[in-house]
Amino acid sequence: MLFGAILAGGVGSRMNIDSMPKQFLPLGSKPIFMHTLEKFLLCDRFDAVYLGVHADWIDFVKEALSSVGLADASVRVVKGGADRNGTIMNIIEGIESEFGASDDHIIVTHDSVRPFVKLSTILANIEAMNYCEACDTVIPATDTIVCSEGGEFIDSIPVRSTMFQGQTPQTFRISSLKDVFASLTEEEKETLTDACKVFVLKDKPVALVEGDVTNIKLTTIMDYKVAQAMLEGGVE
Ligand code: CTP
Repeated sequence: MLFGAILAGGVGSRMNIDSMPKQFLPLGSKPIFMHTLEKFLLCDRFDAVYLGVHADWIDFVKEALSSVGLADASVRVVKGGADRNGTIMNIIEGIESEFGASDDHIIVTHDSVRPFVKLSTILANIEAMNYCEACDTVIPATDTIVCSEGGEFIDSIPVRSTMFQGQTPQTFRISSLKDVFASLTEEEKETLTDACKVFVLKDKPVALVEGDVTNIKLTTIMDYKVAQAMLEGGVE
């Protein structure tokens, strides 16, 4: 079975807006997460779509869903985790308690704060799972990437053509993700900022799927302003 998992459990501290986590801010006529959810609902391949939501905002999300007649549709709301991977694991728990565990289950995870994701990118992730256990959406790096451990002097400058910027969706065979996650040491878990890194840390292959420059992540207030301009300019 195939599941969508939209991650909306964060607090958005780098957005510096106290009133609400960034995924609930308005973008045009609706909250950011709703744009993202609508993209997933365009895809008719999902057996169910999950939203992992910060505990304090579950009522807000349920009200937003029912206001557009989605409460009874196949959108499940589960509590977010302490970190991004925790939210993914909570969604997996929700999937397995409703649909049981199976080696055939695949989860397409996506940041709620990437509202401009294209249906074609979601479909490309799903197709990639025909030949891999995990895949990551990326675009080629356009800026030169500079590595510096201490942040004062450059350690190295990798060849730009081998550098990519990670986006989402990131898609996994659920059983493989759980196995690899369970094998991590506590120290390894500390260094995890990204679910694909779980596979990379254990030398498991992660396939690349081509993303899109419009699939931006809204992290700072500047990104929010860019998103508003994109929407006004007709980007969907
Ligand atoms: N996320 C989540 N659960 C968490 C933390 C993050 O579902 N416990 C989600 C966010 O809601 C967001 C996505 O992961 O959609 C990408 O993470 P990021 O941009 O880092 O979001 P925040 O952690 O909310 O932002 P910040 O680091 O600025 O606090």
